[in-house]
Order: sequence, then C-alpha cells, then structure tokens
Amino acid sequence: PRTIYLTRHGESEQNLEGRIGGDSGLSPRGKQYANALAAYIEEQKIPGLRIWTSWLKRTIQTVAGLNVPQERWKALNEIDAGLCEEMTYEEIKEKYPDEFASRDQNKFAYRYPRGESYEDLVARLEPVIMELERQGNVLVVSHQAVIRCLLAYFLDKSADDLPYLKVPLHTIIKLTPVAYGCRVEHISLNI
Ligand code: F6P
Repeated sequence: PRTIYLTRHGESEQNLEGRIGGDSGLSPRGKQYANALAAYIEEQKIPGLRIWTSWLKRTIQTVAGLNVPQERWKALNEIDAGLCEEMTYEEIKEKYPDEFASRDQNKFAYRYPRGESYEDLVARLEPVIMELERQGNVLVVSHQAVIRCLLAYFLDKSADDLPYLKVPLHTIIKLTPVAYGCRVEHISLNI
C-alpha cells in the first residue's frame, strides 16, 4: 500500500521572529532539519517516491539535498494572510483588534482582509488532493495551515477541528491506508 508523508518546511527565519507568511529562507536549525529529513528519506528507500513542495523558498530549501523527482505546486503555498502577512500575532492584535477577535470566533471561516480563510484553502487544495489520490508514494513538503487541511481530509476531521490540528515543525506525519481510513504516525526528527 502506498504511503503519504507530510511535513512542514524546516524552521524559517520568520518562524524564529514569530512572523506569519512571507517567503524567508531556512534558519540554521531549519537547515539541520533539511539534512536530517534527507538522511531519513534516503534510509527508508521508498519505492518510486516523488516530492511535492510549494513555490516558497522554505519548502524548496527543505528538500534541496534530496535526489528524488520533485514537483512544485503553487496550491501548496501557505494560507495568504493578506494585510496581515509578515506580522506577528501581537502586531495583528494591536493593529486590527476586531480582525483578531473574529478569527478567534470562527477560525475556519475567517478570511484575512485581502487574503484567504481555511475554507478557501480547502477549495484551493482540491486539485492537489485529487492528484494525490492517483499517485504512489509521495512526500508533501508544505506549511502549517495547508498540512492541517490535508490531514483533515485523510483523517476525516471536522471543519471545527481542522484549524487547530497539531502540526509541529521538524516532524514527519506518515499516513498509511488501512481497511477504513488511514493509520497515522508522527516521526519527530529531534532537531
Ligand atoms: O506561523 C507559521 C504559519 O505557517 C503562518 O505562515 C501561517 O499564517 C500560520 O502558521 C497558520 O497557522 P494559524 O492558522 O494557526 O495562524
């Protein structure tokens, strides 16, 4: 049976500053994750593996060291936070308190001004999921909000739970199909 591996990119410079979105490169620790991920994937000798990343630097850098066929999907880019891109949550709370509160009220439906909601993301990911369903073994390297949506699809989680699913950095989420649904394993690379 085929396996889907999901991971966020390694820690980015903006993760370190607590800033959302943007297109920064990996931090030194993020680069260590890239190395550890490459070592793990090589050691697994996964037949016919393909790698899908977003268009953003941090996902591409995370798999730069892997000699595996790769594809880039714009649809795998992180949620677009619109006017709030590259701000910290503190800054958003201060500058747009009403926005901050409404996101807390309904995180799934909330759309950032000039940006996206989780609901928008689910729609944007539909073609990715359709194609994933047709593939063999794939490693998807993407972002926190996007991986939450993919996980919710494969694990049949509700829209209410989706925006709160735990997707830590530097962890591989391994999904293996079983009779009904998916078996899920978290492999933390301890960076
Ligand atoms: O902070 C990292 C990040 O990937 C941001 O780029 C993104 O806006 C955020 O996580 C999504 O998580 P949440 O929906 O919990 O803000």
